[in-house]
Amino acid sequence: SEELLAKAKKVLNDNYQDGGFTIPSKGLYPFQWKWDSGFIALGFAHYDVAKAKKEVETILNAQWGNGFIPHIVFHTETDTYFPGKDFHESSLHPKSSKEYPSTGMTQPPVFGFILEHLYRIAEDKNDMLAFIEKHIDKVFNNHMYFYENRDIHKEGLVYIYHNWESGTDNSPIWDDIWKTMNPPEYTFERRDTTHVDAAQRPTKREYDHYLYIIDIAKKYNYDDKAIAEHSPFLVQDPLFNTMLIQSNASLIRLYELLGGNEDITALLREKQALSISGMNTKLFNEDLGAYVHYDLRQGKQLPYICSSSFTPLYSEVPDAIKAERLVSTMLERFGGEDKYLCASFDPTHERFNPRKYWRGPVWINVNWMLYQGLKNHGYNELASRIKNDSIELVKQNGFFEYFDARKENPDAENSGYGGDNFSWTAALLIDFLL
Ligand code: DGY
Repeated sequence: SEELLAKAKKVLNDNYQDGGFTIPSKGLYPFQWKWDSGFIALGFAHYDVAKAKKEVETILNAQWGNGFIPHIVFHTETDTYFPGKDFHESSLHPKSSKEYPSTGMTQPPVFGFILEHLYRIAEDKNDMLAFIEKHIDKVFNNHMYFYENRDIHKEGLVYIYHNWESGTDNSPIWDDIWKTMNPPEYTFERRDTTHVDAAQRPTKREYDHYLYIIDIAKKYNYDDKAIAEHSPFLVQDPLFNTMLIQSNASLIRLYELLGGNEDITALLREKQALSISGMNTKLFNEDLGAYVHYDLRQGKQLPYICSSSFTPLYSEVPDAIKAERLVSTMLERFGGEDKYLCASFDPTHERFNPRKYWRGPVWINVNWMLYQGLKNHGYNELASRIKNDSIELVKQNGFFEYFDARKENPDAENSGYGGDNFSWTAALLIDFLL
């Protein structure tokens, strides 16, 4: 495992750029991605604290005047990625960063808990605490942006308006939403499929939907209220809201460590209570025994189980009874002995596809969150299984973006798919190993 560790560090080092950020994967993802940068910082924290801090600082520098943090920051010019900054046109929003062109959408709010993990890992606690003190208000402002602009029913649950905001880009969950839309046929040149086998990526028709939602948001200059009114995609996502809740909890603890800011921690506690109850009343599905997505446009739950359904374990959302339900649902449907944990979509469902991006493959960042969550809830054995499965997959196949969940894979010799030398796979493997 010394060898694996050295390889992981090499992946991260090679992907680190002069501009003070790390690309997720050469060619396929040539900019800085929001939640990637959080996980990447965690990997660096184990052996190069300066880079870990820089990664976080760079993404937070791109924060907008309203607290919003974008999903991609286009630090450089390159035409190996579509859709790039000219399509997204973040400058349409009056509060967007003048310095950093970006997308006008976001990704799961990971920075609260990332800061706390940086503190956990740091050898020089005082130094890291000083770093946290410098940046923590930006993360707090980001949370307030969500509560003020995206919690439209004031129920503690924030919406996402694009599948790319979920992090689980082409999940079969969204198929139900695509059925309610009929976007135009766009003419454009795909770039992702020049880097990765098309069988492992979303379809052209799916991309038409993705682009159309952006066009609608642009028509309203990325105004949150208008988006809430007009976007055909408007969803309360269990993973996204869990990340907010887990990050709230970290912020509260970190503010206390810094000597306490009564006003801020009181506000966070109030939001936290509302969010936890929102998750349990609106997003838990008793029949399925898991958290599901809620489609605000259609006014109903989307009754499918994906790996996001279990991520509330990485928070105080589920009580002991719900945690037990989640674990048995996971074991029943995802945890057969012929499978690595944890597939990104229900392997017993007809929409499961073992090779296609978020429609079935295993992702190391979700596994890392499930590992933390299972440990926190006392499921040590299952936590170990997820950790060992993750290490095994990387050892056997390399530092890929995602992996086949089937232990016997009839379709390919190598069960690693998508981008190679993928940064968060390397970063979180380092955290698993150390
Ligand atoms: C992509 O291009 O698929 C990215 O993951 C979007 O975030």
